[in-house]
Amino acid sequence: MHIYKEAKLMRLELEKSRDAGLKIGFVPTMGALHNGHISLINRSKEENDITVCSIFINPTQFNNPEDFDKYPKTIDEDLRLLEASGCDLVFLPSVDEVYPSNFQKKHYELGHLEDILEGKHRPGHFQGVCLVVERLIEMVYCDKLYLGKKDYQQCMVIAKLLQLIQSKTQLVICDTVREETGLAMSSRNMRLNESQKKLSLIIHQCLTNIKTEISSKTISHLEKEATQKLIDAGFEVDYVAITDINLNKKETWNKEEPLVALIAAAINGIRLIDNMMLNEAPLLTQETTL
Ligand code: PAF
Repeated sequence: MHIYKEAKLMRLELEKSRDAGLKIGFVPTMGALHNGHISLINRSKEENDITVCSIFINPTQFNNPEDFDKYPKTIDEDLRLLEASGCDLVFLPSVDEVYPSNFQKKHYELGHLEDILEGKHRPGHFQGVCLVVERLIEMVYCDKLYLGKKDYQQCMVIAKLLQLIQSKTQLVICDTVREETGLAMSSRNMRLNESQKKLSLIIHQCLTNIKTEISSKTISHLEKEATQKLIDAGFEVDYVAITDINLNKKETWNKEEPLVALIAAAINGIRLIDNMMLNEAPLLTQETTL
């Protein structure tokens, strides 16, 4: 496994591979890797000749400085996991490498995605995600980009970004990987102690209840019920939302349209998100109307 800190050197290797007709898959991460990330690496390895993983804790996407400071850093273990997974190349850029002094910040027109749910509760977050992902794909220039569906809204934002910048890179969205208990794997789970981890299962339970009861209860009833359950368990709830697959809020449901339920809630300041499709829905793709 080759490790690069500088884009220039990495590009030389990747250009050789591309010239030889090899396909490049890319998994961008902020480190603190878990099996969710490894499943993205595995998927990329199945579909490409070369798999690149970046580890970069992107300062521009943190709207809360404490969250940035406390973001878990486990670089030695990350490299061990990547080596074991068969990842070909790891990119570990510095902040100056990603955002050099002459870097011009852009603004991306993300439409409603910026004002709702994660966008509403984390102002500026998605602009930062777009900045870094555009920079990273400029540097890695991959055929396919792999993201996990746990960050549903982020997947939609990146699909929009790829449209906006007319990128040829194809977005591949992979299913959420869960602990046996149902808890969605997340780097932030590393900050949970055992009792907080147990409590956090309630997020998945709430989503499962919504899925079971969507045919028999109203949307607002289900949202309120889940919010109350989370509050009773000690969570600060940012949102429980039932929407269409493009994240438009729904008041009523015709029992056919594909829906998704999304939750963001924090326990002791550790913010967790998760989501669940409530009925058969096509996977979000770049063709989805955004
Ligand atoms: O999902 C993440 O880990 C980050 O938002 C990403 C896509 C690596 C950009 O920093």
